[in-house]
Amino acid sequence: MKRVSEIEGEPQVGKFYMVPCLINGGTRIPVLGPEHEDKEYIGFERPHYHFDLRFLPDKKIANRVGYLYERERKPICSPEEFMMLVVTIEVFGAHEIAECPVKCRRRMPVFPLENGVSVLHWFSALEAAFADKKLNCARCPHRGFPLSAENADENGVVVCPGHGLAWNIQTGEMVGRLKSVGA
Ligand code: FES
Repeated sequence: MKRVSEIEGEPQVGKFYMVPCLINGGTRIPVLGPEHEDKEYIGFERPHYHFDLRFLPDKKIANRVGYLYERERKPICSPEEFMMLVVTIEVFGAHEIAECPVKCRRRMPVFPLENGVSVLHWFSALEAAFADKKLNCARCPHRGFPLSAENADENGVVVCPGHGLAWNIQTGEMVGRLKSVGA
Protein backbone atom coordinates (compact mmCIF):
# COMPACT_ATOMS: atom_id res chain seq x y z
CA MET A 1 0.00 0.00 0.00
CA LYS A 2 1.33 3.45 -0.92
CA ARG A 3 2.27 6.01 1.69
CA VAL A 4 0.29 9.21 1.20
CA SER A 5 3.44 11.20 1.95
CA GLU A 6 5.19 9.68 -1.06
CA ILE A 7 2.59 9.74 -3.83
CA GLU A 8 2.76 12.17 -6.73
CA GLY A 9 -0.30 14.42 -6.58
CA GLU A 10 -3.43 13.77 -4.59
CA PRO A 11 -4.74 10.43 -3.29
CA GLN A 12 -7.53 8.77 -5.24
CA VAL A 13 -10.95 8.79 -3.56
CA GLY A 14 -11.98 5.25 -2.56
CA LYS A 15 -8.43 3.86 -2.33
CA PHE A 16 -6.48 2.99 0.83
CA TYR A 17 -3.17 4.65 1.74
CA MET A 18 -0.78 4.55 4.68
CA VAL A 19 -1.64 7.80 6.46
CA PRO A 20 -0.08 9.42 9.57
CA CYS A 21 -2.61 8.99 12.39
CA LEU A 22 -2.77 10.00 16.02
CA ILE A 23 -3.60 6.89 18.00
CA ASN A 24 -5.11 6.63 21.45
CA GLY A 25 -6.40 3.14 22.23
CA GLY A 26 -8.94 2.31 19.54
CA THR A 27 -9.22 5.87 18.26
CA ARG A 28 -7.30 6.89 15.18
CA ILE A 29 -7.30 10.38 13.73
CA PRO A 30 -5.70 11.02 10.32
CA VAL A 31 -3.55 14.14 10.57
CA LEU A 32 -1.89 16.49 8.13
CA GLY A 33 1.36 18.38 8.60
CA PRO A 34 3.64 18.49 11.63
CA GLU A 35 2.62 19.16 15.21
CA HIS A 36 2.96 22.91 15.78
CA GLU A 37 1.83 25.97 17.74
CA ASP A 38 0.25 29.06 16.22
CA LYS A 39 1.13 31.74 18.72
CA GLU A 40 1.94 34.38 16.12
CA TYR A 41 -0.94 35.82 14.07
CA ILE A 42 -3.49 33.21 15.17
CA GLY A 43 -2.95 33.39 18.94
CA PHE A 44 -3.23 29.64 19.56
CA GLU A 45 -0.42 28.56 21.85
CA ARG A 46 -1.06 24.88 22.41
CA PRO A 47 0.78 22.29 20.30
CA HIS A 48 -1.70 20.69 17.94
CA TYR A 49 -2.29 18.73 14.77
CA HIS A 50 -4.71 19.38 11.93
CA PHE A 51 -7.19 16.77 10.71
CA ASP A 52 -6.55 15.36 7.26
CA LEU A 53 -10.02 15.87 5.85
CA ARG A 54 -9.28 13.70 2.85
CA PHE A 55 -9.33 10.68 5.14
CA LEU A 56 -11.84 11.60 7.84
CA PRO A 57 -15.06 9.53 7.55
CA ASP A 58 -18.40 11.38 7.25
CA LYS A 59 -19.50 9.68 10.48
CA LYS A 60 -16.63 11.27 12.42
CA ILE A 61 -17.60 14.70 11.09
CA ALA A 62 -21.30 14.15 11.85
CA ASN A 63 -20.56 12.82 15.35
CA ARG A 64 -18.34 15.69 16.30
CA VAL A 65 -19.42 16.79 19.76
CA GLY A 66 -19.31 20.53 20.07
CA TYR A 67 -20.00 23.62 18.13
CA LEU A 68 -17.91 25.93 16.02
CA TYR A 69 -19.14 28.95 17.92
CA GLU A 70 -20.72 28.32 21.28
CA ARG A 71 -22.66 31.59 21.29
CA GLU A 72 -24.38 31.00 17.98
CA ARG A 73 -24.71 27.25 18.62
CA LYS A 74 -23.83 26.62 15.02
CA PRO A 75 -23.27 22.90 14.58
CA ILE A 76 -20.29 21.66 12.60
CA CYS A 77 -21.67 19.88 9.62
CA SER A 78 -19.32 20.19 6.66
CA PRO A 79 -15.74 19.11 5.97
CA GLU A 80 -14.85 22.78 5.30
CA GLU A 81 -16.00 23.83 8.75
CA PHE A 82 -14.12 20.93 10.29
CA MET A 83 -10.90 22.31 8.80
CA MET A 84 -10.96 25.13 11.33
CA LEU A 85 -10.75 22.65 14.20
CA VAL A 86 -7.52 21.17 15.49
CA VAL A 87 -6.64 18.30 17.79
CA THR A 88 -4.45 19.02 20.82
CA ILE A 89 -2.59 16.34 22.70
CA GLU A 90 -4.02 17.63 25.99
CA VAL A 91 -7.51 16.86 24.78
CA PHE A 92 -6.65 13.71 22.87
CA GLY A 93 -4.68 12.27 25.79
CA ALA A 94 -1.73 9.88 25.63
CA HIS A 95 -0.91 9.27 22.05
CA GLU A 96 1.41 7.86 19.50
CA ILE A 97 1.65 8.82 15.87
CA ALA A 98 1.98 6.07 13.29
CA GLU A 99 1.03 5.34 9.70
CA CYS A 100 -2.18 3.32 9.36
CA PRO A 101 -4.17 2.11 6.34
CA VAL A 102 -7.01 4.60 5.77
CA LYS A 103 -9.46 5.03 2.89
CA CYS A 104 -9.46 8.33 1.01
CA ARG A 105 -12.97 9.77 1.41
CA ARG A 106 -12.90 13.03 -0.54
CA ARG A 107 -10.77 15.61 -2.31
CA MET A 108 -9.16 18.18 -0.05
CA PRO A 109 -11.80 20.80 0.79
CA VAL A 110 -10.92 24.50 0.38
CA PHE A 111 -10.06 26.10 3.71
CA PRO A 112 -12.85 28.65 4.37
CA LEU A 113 -12.15 32.32 5.03
CA GLU A 114 -15.34 32.84 6.96
CA ASN A 115 -16.71 31.06 9.97
CA GLY A 116 -20.37 31.52 9.11
CA VAL A 117 -20.49 34.78 11.07
CA SER A 118 -17.50 36.83 9.90
CA VAL A 119 -14.10 36.64 8.25
CA LEU A 120 -11.59 34.81 10.46
CA HIS A 121 -10.25 37.50 12.77
CA TRP A 122 -6.61 36.44 12.41
CA PHE A 123 -6.52 35.96 8.66
CA SER A 124 -5.51 39.49 7.59
CA ALA A 125 -2.46 39.46 9.93
CA LEU A 126 -1.39 36.05 8.60
CA GLU A 127 -1.81 37.15 4.99
CA ALA A 128 0.13 40.40 5.57
CA ALA A 129 2.99 38.49 7.22
CA PHE A 130 3.40 36.11 4.27
CA ALA A 131 2.63 38.50 1.39
CA ASP A 132 6.24 38.59 0.20
CA LYS A 133 7.14 34.95 0.92
CA LYS A 134 7.33 32.20 -1.69
CA LEU A 135 6.50 28.52 -1.83
CA ASN A 136 9.38 26.27 -0.92
CA CYS A 137 9.33 23.00 -2.93
CA ALA A 138 5.50 23.10 -3.06
CA ARG A 139 5.31 23.52 0.72
CA CYS A 140 3.57 26.44 2.39
CA PRO A 141 6.17 28.69 4.05
CA HIS A 142 3.91 29.18 7.08
CA ARG A 143 4.01 25.70 8.64
CA GLY A 144 5.29 23.59 5.78
CA PHE A 145 2.01 21.94 4.79
CA PRO A 146 2.27 20.22 1.40
CA LEU A 147 0.38 21.75 -1.54
CA SER A 148 -0.74 19.93 -4.65
CA ALA A 149 -1.12 21.35 -8.15
CA GLU A 150 -4.16 19.05 -8.51
CA ASN A 151 -6.01 21.28 -6.05
CA ALA A 152 -5.26 24.47 -7.99
CA ASP A 153 -8.13 26.44 -9.54
CA GLU A 154 -8.28 27.56 -13.18
CA ASN A 155 -5.81 30.37 -12.36
CA GLY A 156 -3.25 28.00 -10.88
CA VAL A 157 -4.04 29.10 -7.32
CA VAL A 158 -4.06 26.54 -4.53
CA VAL A 159 -5.33 27.19 -1.01
CA CYS A 160 -3.25 25.76 1.81
CA PRO A 161 -5.24 23.26 3.91
CA GLY A 162 -3.42 24.42 7.06
CA HIS A 163 -4.67 27.96 7.61
CA GLY A 164 -5.94 29.10 4.24
CA LEU A 165 -3.16 31.12 2.61
CA ALA A 166 -3.41 30.97 -1.21
CA TRP A 167 -0.44 30.43 -3.52
CA ASN A 168 0.19 30.53 -7.23
CA ILE A 169 1.61 27.09 -7.84
CA GLN A 170 3.58 28.23 -10.93
CA THR A 171 5.23 31.41 -9.63
CA GLY A 172 5.25 30.42 -5.95
CA GLU A 173 3.84 33.81 -4.94
CA MET A 174 1.15 34.40 -2.36
CA VAL A 175 -2.26 35.42 -3.70
CA GLY A 176 -4.45 37.60 -1.46
CA ARG A 177 -7.83 36.04 -0.63
CA LEU A 178 -9.34 38.84 1.41
CA LYS A 179 -10.37 40.83 -1.68
CA SER A 180 -12.61 37.95 -2.68
CA VAL A 181 -14.77 38.49 0.41
CA GLY A 182 -14.60 42.30 0.20
CA ALA A 183 -12.52 42.59 3.40
S1 FES B 1 0.58 26.05 6.81
FE1 FES B 1 -0.52 27.73 7.55
S2 FES B 1 -1.37 28.61 5.79
FE2 FES B 1 -0.15 27.03 5.05
